[in-house]
Amino acid sequence: MNIGVIGLGTVGLGVIEILTNEKTRLEKQYQIDINIKYGCALEEVTLPEGIISTKDYHVVLDDPEVDVIVELIGGTTIAKQIILEAMQKGKHVVTANKALLAHCAKTLFECANTNNVHFFYEASVGGGIPIITPEKESLVANNIQKIEGILNGTTNFILSLMEEQNLTFEEALNNARKKGFVEADESLDLDGIDAAHKIAILATNAYKQYIDFDSISCTGIRSITKLDMDICKELGYKFKLIAECEKIDEQLYIGVAPMLIPANDLIASVNSSYNVIEITCDYLENVLFYGKGAGRYVTASAVVADILKTETSDKWSYHDYKDMIKVNPVSTSKYYIRSEQPLEIPYIQSLNIHHQYIYLTDTIRPDLLKDESLHIFKIR
Ligand code: HSE
Repeated sequence: MNIGVIGLGTVGLGVIEILTNEKTRLEKQYQIDINIKYGCALEEVTLPEGIISTKDYHVVLDDPEVDVIVELIGGTTIAKQIILEAMQKGKHVVTANKALLAHCAKTLFECANTNNVHFFYEASVGGGIPIITPEKESLVANNIQKIEGILNGTTNFILSLMEEQNLTFEEALNNARKKGFVEADESLDLDGIDAAHKIAILATNAYKQYIDFDSISCTGIRSITKLDMDICKELGYKFKLIAECEKIDEQLYIGVAPMLIPANDLIASVNSSYNVIEITCDYLENVLFYGKGAGRYVTASAVVADILKTETSDKWSYHDYKDMIKVNPVSTSKYYIRSEQPLEIPYIQSLNIHHQYIYLTDTIRPDLLKDESLHIFKIR
């Protein structure tokens, strides 16, 4: 097996390191030669002996000896071009590119089908946590009703710090920045877009349904104050950025938003940069996937498994995917509402602290709460 790794950042170098370290064992197990033929990146990178270093991805794509292209540059422009061109040349593709999958799944899947190549993307959701393969293979007997979870490690790290160390959002964010957790485009993490990419991918797989990404309602964690955090703690909840997707009467509901989770729920105990995904389905009922959602070796572990799957697995078919639809936000819920002014709304508990009016409502529809000056969080 000849492999071309395009993109030699954190994950790309992790993939090369794991495949180099584990080569002998994996070759014996799979009865194949595993040869990383190319490492491709614009920057200078020192690679292990025997790997051809190039800045020109065409060199990799044009080599008929290369069987598998590993796309790890990310983004939705050049990465898309590379993947499509690789498939058109009959090469299998492995990627971790969540943004591209969330926006362009239809184009990518159809191209893989047309060219009869493998296309695997386990590392796009939950880092190293096996979730895409279980969804597509292990849960195949089931009809999935609901998927919910913590899909962004950075915001979970920030919320955990705010809660455990009594920090403000800005203080916790600076801490996350120092650890190198936050994406170069911080908005992807902080505004829930990264989590939305991931839930879109999970929903596409679960329901064999292409999703109009722009229709996903998405709220991040910037508006959570220390006061919200304190009250939430006092009332026995934990703030978590929850990505969820639910099928009700053939309608698909998808959303990302901060939520107050009862402290004794399993999801509430997932702290720091860990991810968790809970799938509710008919035969297996509930299943949880938990682990590290980001990091060099964590993510590279999933990429390496995908590379080897191109040798061992049947091709995933995307022939039965349904046409693109717009989705609705996950609707009815209990809510936590913070307002500068007293409100005339039905509530089950209210507090007045530091000139802020806090209301905990019963289950209501969010369209009752359209006022933009309100800070509204769902309660699980
Ligand atoms: N920024 C992402 C996160 C990285 O924090 O989860 C992994 O996808």
